[in-house]
Amino acid sequence: MLRVTNVTKKFGALTAVNNLSFEVSQGQVFGIAGPNGAGKSTLYNLITGLYDFKGTISFKDQDITGMPPHVIARLGIARTFQIPQTFPSLTVEKSIEVGSYFGSQKGFDKDHVDTVLAFTNLAAKRDAPTGSLNLLDKKMLMIGAALATRPEILMLDEPMAGSNASEIIQLMDLIRRINQDLGVTIIIIEHFMKVLTELTQTLLIIETGTEICCGDPREVTSDPRVIECYLGDSHD
Ligand SMILES: Nc1ncnc2c1ncn2[C@@H]1O[C@H](COP(=O)(O)OP(=O)(O)OP(=O)(O)O)[C@@H](O)[C@H]1O
Ligand SMILES: [Mg+2]
Repeated sequence: MLRVTNVTKKFGALTAVNNLSFEVSQGQVFGIAGPNGAGKSTLYNLITGLYDFKGTISFKDQDITGMPPHVIARLGIARTFQIPQTFPSLTVEKSIEVGSYFGSQKGFDKDHVDTVLAFTNLAAKRDAPTGSLNLLDKKMLMIGAALATRPEILMLDEPMAGSNASEIIQLMDLIRRINQDLGVTIIIIEHFMKVLTELTQTLLIIETGTEICCGDPREVTSDPRVIECYLGDSHD
């Protein structure tokens, strides 16, 4: 569904993404992990059209290399950001409506907004200003606004960051439901290995922009190269 081929991104002398190739199949949850500064968020920025790069990226067999962000979003690729971004003065419902306006060719769809509010457990808070939400609800809202664009692929950037154990369980449940009930393909960048091994079918590990290994998450997390570069002592 999404094919990344020989993609390289340099910022001056720094190679942030180094000749990466991988493929995400329709319906799967695809995980990406690696140390800080490995190039994970940069990879999302390339897929969503924020920077130019060397190599090619295709979505559903269409070459999207060089397309601007709004066109890529309209094609069905949505993302969230590492730090939750909301419009503080808007209500929860209006924020979801923004996603609905932005993503839908038909314009804003009230029923779909209601569905997303229910799906993200935010229906009771629909009139609350987003600035009043706690971190978990802000994350639910950011994911809801992305869902409101009716994506075929949803790319999540460290959705668990800063969350406690019970919040992680709720976010994992949401991600599973988005994948299984809505049929949305998911790419997830995450540091929590337990989340990745429980949610994903394929896991890609990168370090300094380069692939270390890619495959079944249980095999990948027991690979000696991954333990050395990333998991280290915490794996023991
Ligand atoms: N716009 C930019 N200009 C210059 N350098 C950048 C830019 N964006 C990212 N970088 C650099 O590229 C490298 C990869 O950064 P990136 O944010 O993709 O890492 P990451 O894997 O997402 O890390 P983290 O786990 O900390 O979020 C880092 O060295 C970073 O400083
Ligand atoms: Mg990052």
